[in-house]
Amino acid sequence: MGKSENIVWHESKVTKADREKLNGHKGAVLWFTGLSGSGKSTISVEVEKELHARGIHTYRLDGDNVRHGLNKNLGFSPDDRKENIRRIGEVSKLMVDAGLVTLTAFISPYREDRDNIRELLGDREFIEVFVKASVETCESRDPKGLYKKARAGEIKGFTGIDAPYEEPVNPEITVDTDKQTLEESVQQIVEYFIG
Ligand code: ADX
Repeated sequence: MGKSENIVWHESKVTKADREKLNGHKGAVLWFTGLSGSGKSTISVEVEKELHARGIHTYRLDGDNVRHGLNKNLGFSPDDRKENIRRIGEVSKLMVDAGLVTLTAFISPYREDRDNIRELLGDREFIEVFVKASVETCESRDPKGLYKKARAGEIKGFTGIDAPYEEPVNPEITVDTDKQTLEESVQQIVEYFIG
């Protein structure tokens, strides 16, 4: 960190405010956090669809997808997860600057890392969405068969099994996918966002 020297910020003539005016709405990040298999990707896909249908410019960043490209050099050690989330935070900030409503779906297990992004973006632009589900529920869903592998010792440091997940203390939105249907969770988030 901090290796770049002799760099000067260059302003554009088109501003964030100009882009927001053209779009007819402000940018923001809906930051989904929760265990693997909690429903982050599924719910964020549906929320994006609903927002798009209402004329909102969106983009979705997803853990498994981003790890195929931008973050393919990162694994799942605490340091790598921290760097993963730091980069996504910076990318999200660029996307908000571009005027987009950005939906991110990363486990983002560490409270401190999420709080850093809240600080980077500010409270108005950072909407933390806690996708709550017990480990038991996620394990019973196990859509990618990874809990099974983690229990068998084939994956070390799997979130919820032998790596931590720190729940948000004061998220803007909590959806409980142990109890709510997909439609209920999607509606709750869209209503919060649209008002
Ligand atoms: S994060 O912890 O750095 O935020 P991220 O959301 O990018 O994680 O990636 C999580 C996805 O990677 C999971 O949904 C799962 O498919 C896969 N994965 C592979 N190994 C692990 C692991 N050890 N812990 C959690 N997820 C893992």
